[in-house]
Amino acid sequence: MNAFDLHGTVALVTGAGGGIGSATVRALADAGAVVIATDRPAQAEIAGARSYRPLDVTDESAWNALAHFIEGEHGRLDIVVNNAGISVTNRIVDTTLAEFRKCMAVNVEGVFLGTRAMEPLLARSGKDRKGGSAIVNLSSVGGLRGAAFMTTYTTSKGAVKLFTKSTAMEYAALGLPIRANSVHPGGIDTGMMDTIYARYIETGLFADEETARATISASHALGRMGTAEEIAGGIVYLCSPAASFVTGSELVIDGGMTAH
Ligand SMILES: NC(=O)c1ccc[n+]([C@@H]2O[C@H](COP(=O)([O-])OP(=O)(O)OC[C@H]3O[C@@H](n4cnc5c(N)ncnc54)[C@H](O)[C@@H]3O)[C@@H](O)[C@H]2O)c1
Repeated sequence: MNAFDLHGTVALVTGAGGGIGSATVRALADAGAVVIATDRPAQAEIAGARSYRPLDVTDESAWNALAHFIEGEHGRLDIVVNNAGISVTNRIVDTTLAEFRKCMAVNVEGVFLGTRAMEPLLARSGKDRKGGSAIVNLSSVGGLRGAAFMTTYTTSKGAVKLFTKSTAMEYAALGLPIRANSVHPGGIDTGMMDTIYARYIETGLFADEETARATISASHALGRMGTAEEIAGGIVYLCSPAASFVTGSELVIDGGMTAH
C-alpha cells in the first residue's frame, strides 16, 4: 500500500474556507480521505469536501455537537487539522485586551477545544489504522521566533507549538493511538497575508504593499513566498501512515526562512 494513502479515513479541517484550509481539504481528498470541512458560519461550501459544517472554533458547545454529528454520520474520525486562525499586527501599546483575547480564543482555545472534543473518536479510530490517528495544528514560523508588531500572534502560535508537544506526550504516555504534530509555515500568499500587509502599512513598518511583499519574500532563503499547496503537502504527510513514527514534532515549511 502507498504509505501516503488516506483511503478509509475521515478527516476534519477547521478554517477550511481560507487559503491553507481549502488547499488542505483538496490534498486530503486527493489522498483518499473523506473530508468534513468546517469554517465560520458565514462561509459557503468548500471544493473537495464530502460535507460542510459551520463551526466557530471558539464555540465549546458547537465542538461537542460536531463530535456527535461525526459519530452518527461517519462512525469514525482519523484526522483533525486545527487550521483556523486569525492574525493581529499591531504595536503592543496599541493592542486592546479584546484583540489579544480574541486571538488567543481562536488560535489557542480553538485548538484546545478541538483536541478535547475529538479525542474519544480519534482514539477509537486510531486502533485499527497503521500510524494511528493524527492531529495537525497550524502554528507558524511566528511560533518559533519573535516578529516586530506581531506579539499577540506569535504568542498564540508559540502556545500552539507547546500545546501540540504536550498533547503528543500525553497520548503516548497513555498509549492512545493518536499522533500530534505542528506545522510552521513561512509567508504564504493567502487572505491572511493580505491583512498583514495592510496592517504593516497602517502601522508604518512598510511604506507600501510592494515594499512589504519584496521585503517579506526576500526574508525566505528561496526568495519567495510559499503557496497553500506547499503547506497542504506537509499536512497530508503528517496525517499518513508514512509519518507513523512522527509525533510531537515541528514541521517547518518556510522556504528556508528560519534556516539561518
Ligand atoms: N498565510 C500565512 O502566511 C501563514 C503563515 C503561518 C501560519 N499560518 C496559519 O495557517 C492557518 C491558516 O491561515 P491562512 O493563511 O489560510 O489564512 P486565511 O485567512 O486564508 O484562512 C483562515 C480561515 O480561518 C477561518 N476562521 C477565522 N476565525 C475562525 C473561527 N473563530 N472559527 C472558525 N474558523 C475561523 C477564516 O474564516 C478563514 O477561512 C492559520 O492558523 C494561520 O495562522 C498562515
